Amino acid sequence: MKLLIDDARLDEIKKIYEFYPVAGVTTNPTILSKIGGNPFETLKKIREFIGEDAQLHVQAVSRRAEKIVEEAWHIAKLLGTNTYVKIPAVPEGFKAMKILNETSEIPFTATAIYTPMQAFIAGQCGASYAAPYVNRIDNMGFNGLTVAKDIQQIFERNFMETEVIAASFKNSQQVLELCKCGISAATLSPEIFIALVKNFAIDSAVEDFISDFENFAGKDKTMLDFQ
Ligand code: G3P
Repeated sequence: MKLLIDDARLDEIKKIYEFYPVAGVTTNPTILSKIGGNPFETLKKIREFIGEDAQLHVQAVSRRAEKIVEEAWHIAKLLGTNTYVKIPAVPEGFKAMKILNETSEIPFTATAIYTPMQAFIAGQCGASYAAPYVNRIDNMGFNGLTVAKDIQQIFERNFMETEVIAASFKNSQQVLELCKCGISAATLSPEIFIALVKNFAIDSAVEDFISDFENFAGKDKTMLDFQ
């Protein structure tokens, strides 16, 4: 399962990149609204930092298909290769996906997915990824993990190349459950990313090893101090 960061704060993105394996960054209009200003200033800085090989997902916001297509070309032009245009999985979005699929090489991610059939239709329209919103589905009284797993199964059983990029998490357990099922990708807030491996018992075990070593070797001594 590829892990991406669902955030546009460059300082937070840098912190996660320093310590963890990251396949890219996803954004949405709400995330960009928290930064403010010209969204492309923010996005270009992110692209510069993550490099051209990493994925960057950026959402189109037009309501009509033709405008979504125009936005897609604009986004792809300004942010380069490996930029995935996020398109809501609604009828105008499907229309835009079909046009892009037939007339361009621009990869796109179907977003705002709450039901498996949205993902199936988006896949048929040529989406590279479909993004079910796990936690938001839970909040509606359904099971977000089940929806994500169903979508993965639909893609596999219909021999579709579309991948799941699960989004909207509230805890690391949800990520673990999808990891166990071989879900293709998940995009996480920096807080959830850190929570994947945050555990008092782990920290305590590592600290014990260090203090045991220092007890016989001396404070701040490491293996470098011995031959
Ligand atoms: O980017 C879409 C998705 O990640 C939204 O997550 O946390 O706003 O439900 P959230």
